[in-house]
Amino acid sequence: MDSACGGFACCNSCRVEVLSGALSPLLPEEEPFLDAPAQRLGCQARLLGGLVAVRLAPGA
Ligand code: FES
Repeated sequence: MDSACGGFACCNSCRVEVLSGALSPLLPEEEPFLDAPAQRLGCQARLLGGLVAVRLAPGA
């Protein structure tokens, strides 16, 4: 996955749609980049266990 900002939540190149699984709570830094409730920034979300399925979000 490309990371133009180095994982500092400011480039939007890592935006994904979460299809299943549990991730860490949404951070305020992510909110300006998200278009739908199921989206997260891949550089900020942390796995909480189990299998997580994601795909790149449109425009990411
Ligand atoms: S890598 Fe830039 S916002 Fe996630």
